Amino acid sequence: MVRTEEGAGRRGISRRGLIGGGVAAAGVAGAFAVGRSSEGSTADAATRPSSYAFRGAHQAGIVTPAQDRLHFAAFDVITDDREQLIQLLQQWTEAADRMTQGKPAGTVGPVEGPSNAPPDDTGEAIGLSPSGLTITFGFGPSLFRTDDGSAGPGRDRFGLADRQPAALRTLPHFPADVLDPARSYGDLCVQACADDPQVAVHAIRNLARIGFGTVSVRWSQLGFGRTSSTTVDQSTPRNLFGFKDGTMNIKAEESDDVTEHVWVGAGDDADADWLTGGSYLVARRFNMTIEVWDRQSLGDQEAFVGRSKDSGAPLSGGGEHTEPDFDMPGADDLPVIAPDAHVRLVHPDFNDGARMLRRGYNFVDGSNALGGLDAGLFFLAFVRNPDTHFIPIQTKMATNDALMEYLKVTGSALFAVPPGIGEGEYVGQALFA
Ligand code: HEM
Repeated sequence: MVRTEEGAGRRGISRRGLIGGGVAAAGVAGAFAVGRSSEGSTADAATRPSSYAFRGAHQAGIVTPAQDRLHFAAFDVITDDREQLIQLLQQWTEAADRMTQGKPAGTVGPVEGPSNAPPDDTGEAIGLSPSGLTITFGFGPSLFRTDDGSAGPGRDRFGLADRQPAALRTLPHFPADVLDPARSYGDLCVQACADDPQVAVHAIRNLARIGFGTVSVRWSQLGFGRTSSTTVDQSTPRNLFGFKDGTMNIKAEESDDVTEHVWVGAGDDADADWLTGGSYLVARRFNMTIEVWDRQSLGDQEAFVGRSKDSGAPLSGGGEHTEPDFDMPGADDLPVIAPDAHVRLVHPDFNDGARMLRRGYNFVDGSNALGGLDAGLFFLAFVRNPDTHFIPIQTKMATNDALMEYLKVTGSALFAVPPGIGEGEYVGQALFA
């Protein structure tokens, strides 16, 4: 199976094999399979390519078929030296390019170097296949200007302030935000997605190791059970409320919508032309009050979402992929899909046509002090412009959505995701040029 856009994919090549035998020839780009499947499970992973090219017109890990596992990390840059930052991005580019092809992070390898020096790869991915690993980099607002909470413009840390995109600002405070600063913000972010959690963790761990002295990890989040489908041939997974999630997501095959709603267009921001072909990444950690949710009746749960828990069909009828009929009358003079149902409030028809590419993951980070699960949905979405495609929708949801009774937002961040790169270039090169 091969993939367009992110480059060709291969299947089943182990890291051991690559270390010893070099990289197999990449296949040719092909078309996506057409047709939707709505039932299924992680068996999807077996039908996906084992590796994706790191270089290309856009960064991988956006329209790439969503993998099963996530390790996401936000970093603080701890130097003021622009050259040191550029050097890190160059080193990260090389390492990411290697790891996504199933090779070790460094050119020597985890066990091949001298015994009196730390290895240039940590070793836990020896023998594992590339597992569809994608590594996606982003730049936070604080990379451009410091934000110490004062009213002033902030300090231009790396001579980048005049290239800061207008839409790249700390997200506003939304109702139900109880943000932990230790789980929010960041100068840089790295999203590592793979079908094997050890491969995703290996990627973040090695990038953090390479960045020692230049960056420090500010926060990181593990995720499982993707909560979205990003191609039409992927089955729709379920979130921890037990509902299918991702049904109406933008799919890679909807190329007009991807262009219109995901990629930053030429001329979108005259001061930030380096971002053309890139995107904005919204990251929000939604804690679910699982134990309270589990005591709600099935009928109420479905009313809150506006869809059937079983099939994922809208409550107005049909199948999972039937368009909801928001005007269909229900009981008590109310529409059958309630005014405060999630799918009504966030639907493009009521949001100036805005769509987003959702790519979030479930998380369970153990239990809280009361014995409840510290669990929820780590919401990730790629949008062309957060001012038009995210903030108004999130505001509406936070204010009116029936689901909010069971949600608390504990982490939040926004990043600009630069476009992809060609051979010999490093991630974000156009920004520093
Ligand atoms: C824990 C938080 C959330 C849960 C449990 C949740 C759940 C769901 C479910 C079950 C669906 C229906 C299936 C589908 O079309 O994917 C859905 C759709 C959707 N959600 Fe959420 N969601 C959450 C947060 C958000 C947030 C923060 C936003 C954006 C501000 C959002 C935007 C959307 C959109 C745009 C759709 C598709 C609507 C359509 O086109 O019909 N969701 N969500």
